[in-house]
Amino acid sequence: MNIKTVMVIGAGQMGGGIAQVCAQAGYNVILNDLKDEFLTRGLSVIEKNMNRAVSKEKMTEEDKNASLGRITRSTDLNDAKNADLVIEAAVENMAIKTKIFETLDQAAPEHAILASNTSSLPITEIAAATKRPEQVIGMHFMNPVPVMKLVEIIRGLATTDEVYQAIEEMTKTLNKAPVEVEDFPGFVSNRILMPMINEAIYTLYEGVASKEAIDDVMKMGMNHPMGPLQLADFIGLDTCLYIMEILHEGFGDSKYRPCPLLRKYVKAGWLGKKTGRGFYIYE
Ligand code: CAA
Repeated sequence: MNIKTVMVIGAGQMGGGIAQVCAQAGYNVILNDLKDEFLTRGLSVIEKNMNRAVSKEKMTEEDKNASLGRITRSTDLNDAKNADLVIEAAVENMAIKTKIFETLDQAAPEHAILASNTSSLPITEIAAATKRPEQVIGMHFMNPVPVMKLVEIIRGLATTDEVYQAIEEMTKTLNKAPVEVEDFPGFVSNRILMPMINEAIYTLYEGVASKEAIDDVMKMGMNHPMGPLQLADFIGLDTCLYIMEILHEGFGDSKYRPCPLLRKYVKAGWLGKKTGRGFYIYE
């Protein structure tokens, strides 16, 4: 399948990153969000990232301008009529995603593949909102998207081999590494990462060590680039709690119960870096 135009739904941290890597790889990108101001904010982050790459001589000024020139703005989901692939990176809420996929299914051309960047919601259920479940797939990018190599490619129950292969190939053209995963709660990444983060929070909750000590153990002892509590702040504590709830509900196993301290922080609005306070305080 010949993918030339990619529509990205959501201009936030993940959607903006996905739009950036697609534009840099030569795809025409339609960046969509609910409001113009969200697009402006998302595009300014993309430009800032590219400027940093130019200043480090990892990208030329011409390439930057050409990449930015390939991104068009959209506040209308019907612009999917011009897309060969849509990658949805809107909020993690099944009702909202279902609605978006219903609209995309009606607007996008027959050949178009509809992908979701969901970090934990079932692809099979998202696909069931469309009349083309065989052309629906998960493309789970990691944060920060321009830096992280992995894309988990999640097959829904009905996803065809042809669609899987087209997405695997497309992912490679982004200079990313696709890894094939079946559709189970948390896929592979969050099924392993989130219980580790949750356990680090229990370790803090039970007074086993200070937050700095817990992070130091994992950074220096296990060579992780960030400690689990710092990483939780970076991901967002609301997102961590949400994913733990999905694992807990999806498997019905108490080993996935979210730590009460995580719930408490989320209730306090201490959501991590994005709100200026999580386990750590950010200026
Ligand atoms: N956007 C774009 N580029 C960024 C960036 C961002 N937000 N943050 C850092 N970078 C770039 C820097 O410009 C730098 O680039 P160069 O190598 O070209 O100079 C490079 O990344 C390294 O950055 P720094 O030197 O500033 O800092 P660092 O060495 O500490 O690396 C990090 C930063 C890459 C974020 C590193 O700390 C890291 O790998 N952390 C763990 C990230 C991780 O685990 N991500 C997965 C999160 S889970 C997820 O995404 C799935 C989910 O569903 C929840």
